[in-house]
Amino acid sequence: MKKLRVGIIGCGRIFVMHAVPASTLEESELVACCDVVAERAAAAAEKYGAKAYTDYREMLDREKLDAVHLCLPHYLHTVVAKYAFSRGVNVLSEKPMSIDYESAEDAVISAEKAGVLYGVIFQCRYNNSAQLVKRSLEAGKLGKIISARSTLTWKRDDEYYKESDWKGTWDKEGGGVVIDQAIHSIDLVNWMVDSGVKSVSCSMANRGHKIVKVEDSAEGLITYENGVRYGFYCMNNYGCDEPIEIRLLCEKGKVVFGYDDAYITYNDGSTEEAHQEENVTLYEGGKDYWGFQHVRQIRQFYRACLGLEPLDISGREALKTHKLICEIYKQGKETMR
Ligand SMILES: NC(=O)c1ccc[n+]([C@@H]2O[C@H](COP(=O)([O-])OP(=O)(O)OC[C@H]3O[C@@H](n4cnc5c(N)ncnc54)[C@H](O)[C@@H]3O)[C@@H](O)[C@H]2O)c1
Repeated sequence: MKKLRVGIIGCGRIFVMHAVPASTLEESELVACCDVVAERAAAAAEKYGAKAYTDYREMLDREKLDAVHLCLPHYLHTVVAKYAFSRGVNVLSEKPMSIDYESAEDAVISAEKAGVLYGVIFQCRYNNSAQLVKRSLEAGKLGKIISARSTLTWKRDDEYYKESDWKGTWDKEGGGVVIDQAIHSIDLVNWMVDSGVKSVSCSMANRGHKIVKVEDSAEGLITYENGVRYGFYCMNNYGCDEPIEIRLLCEKGKVVFGYDDAYITYNDGSTEEAHQEENVTLYEGGKDYWGFQHVRQIRQFYRACLGLEPLDISGREALKTHKLICEIYKQGKETMR
């Protein structure tokens, strides 16, 4: 099989979740790593036997890549993606697509015009738990969703924000707990409900962080065109990362699921459940709250690049959740004034 020539831009915390699959899957070889911090790029390149760059344009101009992963601060995602599209390179971007709606939509259109693939990481969709729930909904076993709710209570203290020059800023991260941590649970519900959003009513606050101005708490009600009402609550002032919880009330049953486990109880008394595999290994430097499914999504993206299957989570697909996230900010920011 032809191996895709792959590069990664951004060699920070999440880099390992992309570098290990890129350098070990049969579909790919990791040939170039780029970071503006030269030592970071050099260390990453040496570890994975790739070439180091500090300028992503130079890397994209020289390396004849088939695909590039973006592991960058949020405000750079679409800027760099568009440069890659202009060079005919397929892009797999970390979430979120961008810090506003317009640039994300513009990037989707640019990729379509360039005829290249644009994937966006929402790895939690590949968890066994989420897969079971989605399959049951698609098969009609649960009937229609009536209501949904999600909760996330995690810990991101001032120390966490001190370590980064972009996290916790409106102009570079685009927000706080919603765009960074709760985006995955909101995406899971949005994916399950699979309908246009009719209205968003929400509030946001910074209740516990002194060194950043972005929201650390948010709650709201999303009403969908198909009638589903979805309530969400998230905050990162908690003392640890508790498992997220999503509940779905459906016509033919109830669902409780998180990243690791899913429990479905049908109205006829029958049950189904799914769990994270037992022997998953955490990559060196990886965090368990990132889950273990980056590799599944990355492989799916590569197989789409090779023309073996259609791309699952395209930019256009991810735009649905991005639009909702941007609407939550539009409403929520008003309540922070
Ligand atoms: N999917 C998930 O669960 C998950 C988890 C963690 C992070 N992420 C996402 O991954 C992305 C990166 O987050 P992180 O925590 O690794 O951030 P980070 O700050 O640790 O890493 C970003 C890296 O990009 C580099 N960089 C900045 N500007 C650059 C440029 N112009 N060219 C090349 N390199 C540049 C920085 O020097 C840094 O090394 C974000 O979008 C974040 O939301 C996703």
